[in-house]
Amino acid sequence: MALKNPAQINQMRPAGKFVAGVLSSLRDVAREGMTLKQLDSHAHQMIDAAGAHSVYLGYHPSFGAMPYPGVLCTSVNDAALHGLPSDYVLVDGDVLSIDFAAQVQGWVADSALTFQVGTQSPEVTALIETTERALAAGIAAARPGARMGDISSAIGTVGRAGGYGINADFGGHGVGRTMHEDPHVPNLGRPGTGLKLKAGLVIAIEPWFMAGGDGYTIDDDGWTIRTADGSLAAHAEHTVAITPDGPLVLTARD
Ligand code: MF3
Ligand code: CO
Repeated sequence: MALKNPAQINQMRPAGKFVAGVLSSLRDVAREGMTLKQLDSHAHQMIDAAGAHSVYLGYHPSFGAMPYPGVLCTSVNDAALHGLPSDYVLVDGDVLSIDFAAQVQGWVADSALTFQVGTQSPEVTALIETTERALAAGIAAARPGARMGDISSAIGTVGRAGGYGINADFGGHGVGRTMHEDPHVPNLGRPGTGLKLKAGLVIAIEPWFMAGGDGYTIDDDGWTIRTADGSLAAHAEHTVAITPDGPLVLTARD
């Protein structure tokens, strides 16, 4: 596990700012009638204009049926993670999670947000707000001297209190020059257990909760992760540097 020195953490700031700006822009432009591919093109143009690099496009872990075909993950309604940017046309009330990572000046940042397109409904607002509160609780626990289980437990406690389904097969991860580094950051755990957190550790913290049960399925494309019971899902993620003063959210949006 690579720790970053303070200068390196400073060098990661432009990547964090860029990823935050793209997500804010996507949230502004996304509306009923747009396709997921149009959102992907919007992000791709911002990448090109900034001289950044996509870390998704062409990414091909063993589980994918094909190399990743876009620069975003766009997961709608019962899709929780890794939804492919397709020709699907957004409709009013869709729950859209957008996950975006990019490399800028040699460093990566990774972040995700979920919002409802058009008309807002109370159940969806509660699901999204709980996911964001779990992310905030996980971030608050990311301090030198604490343990990984403190982050995991903080996330899981908020999700379970909301009555949501949680599956710990997918979670957060270290971030640095590449998108996925050690250590794994589970969304369920026990306080006081696991890796001791140190200043210089940079991690993506990413709760994803399901309105129903804990189960999920994976589409034939090998990528798209859906709730097993067809319930809605939400996902929130920030890249966070653990500093002597506490957590620094590199992907904070204005
Ligand atoms: N950003 C996702 C994560 O948080 C991973 C996306 S997988 C990709 O781990 F293939 F789309 F890149
Ligand atoms: Co991530």
